Amino acid sequence: MAIEVARALPAADVAAVRDLAARVAAADGEAAFDEQSLLNLGGGRPVRHLIVRGGPEGPDGGGPVPILGYAQVADGSGELAVDPAARRRGIGGALLDAVLDGLDGLDGLDTPDGADGLHGPEDVRVWAHGDLAPARALAATRGLGVVRDLWVMTAPAPTVPEPTKVPSQSEPTSAVDGVRVRTFEPGSDEQAWLTVNARAFADHPEQGRMTRADLEARMAQPWFDGRLFWLAEDVNSGRTLGSMWVKISDRVGEIYVLGVDPDAQGRGIGGLLTAHAMAAFAARDLTGLELYVEGENAPAIAVYERAGFHRARAHVQYARTGSH
Ligand SMILES: CC(C)(COP(=O)(O)OP(=O)(O)OC[C@H]1O[C@@H](n2cnc3c(N)ncnc32)[C@H](O)[C@@H]1OP(=O)(O)O)[C@@H](O)C(=O)NCCC(=O)NCCS
Repeated sequence: MAIEVARALPAADVAAVRDLAARVAAADGEAAFDEQSLLNLGGGRPVRHLIVRGGPEGPDGGGPVPILGYAQVADGSGELAVDPAARRRGIGGALLDAVLDGLDGLDGLDTPDGADGLHGPEDVRVWAHGDLAPARALAATRGLGVVRDLWVMTAPAPTVPEPTKVPSQSEPTSAVDGVRVRTFEPGSDEQAWLTVNARAFADHPEQGRMTRADLEARMAQPWFDGRLFWLAEDVNSGRTLGSMWVKISDRVGEIYVLGVDPDAQGRGIGGLLTAHAMAAFAARDLTGLELYVEGENAPAIAVYERAGFHRARAHVQYARTGSH
């Protein structure tokens, strides 16, 4: 099976992959590619795109040849999906094998492993969002094991509290001594947020590596709302101790990023910031709430369970070097 490998995609392929992603999400009830991967289609980060094409008219039938399968590898992590109408023809298996076996040689690029942010094949982990049955079956055929378990936690939308109890955006709903909470100011708070985010997520494979460009790309998204992004800071020194970033889209409220500096953990700042998020959610007409958290992050899960969240499903990563 012919697999095209590229570092960058022409605009027509970007559009075709977005269409494929939409068809897959509609058929499976689960998106196969995460937000960062869809942003990566337009360039900016060192990634590899793997494409399998085909169609009823064949490659020589004139017109653009549809994309039947697509995989993306970035920073040792891969995602792949096959058009719902083209499954069980070996396309997913071929893409998975290419991702796991490494891409050098496939595209004739002589960049050594790791030199441009891509890892050697022994490191590659492949996401199965929702851990759906076909992905599990495919992973089993390759003897892969689960190496990461990312929980999706959900909660009912909070009911609107008494008007007198709705806190203003800058007024904490409960106090933590020496800490104040205020909204993020675009243009001046970026570096403070990047610092606290990197410290809070030092061990996290994606979140801890957010750059200023990543932050700005998210702030440019239509869902970005500066009123739903808070910093907790030391009242005396002004040092940023934590942050809460909330995303609302399609009437679903998401606790997008909650991070507290390791030096300030255990003081109730996570709970304080969560109270701000819940109050903001309660003041809006939402159908439900969700968030993502590592299955092994017990302290964060405890904060979220206290706020009414429970585990709804999980995204897992498969790899050759995993334990079952
Ligand atoms: C998972 C996915 C990529 C498989 O793509 P595909 O092209 O259908 O996979 P293949 O045809 O190469 O299947 C290879 C083997 O995996 C197993 N398999 C794949 N889908 C299966 C299914 N729905 N039920 C049972 N076994 C399945 C079979 O053993 C199959 O071999 P066979 O057809 O000879 O029995 C596709 O279902 C998909 O895009 N799902 C959504 C995205 C996703 O979950 N990605 C994560 C991949 S780890």
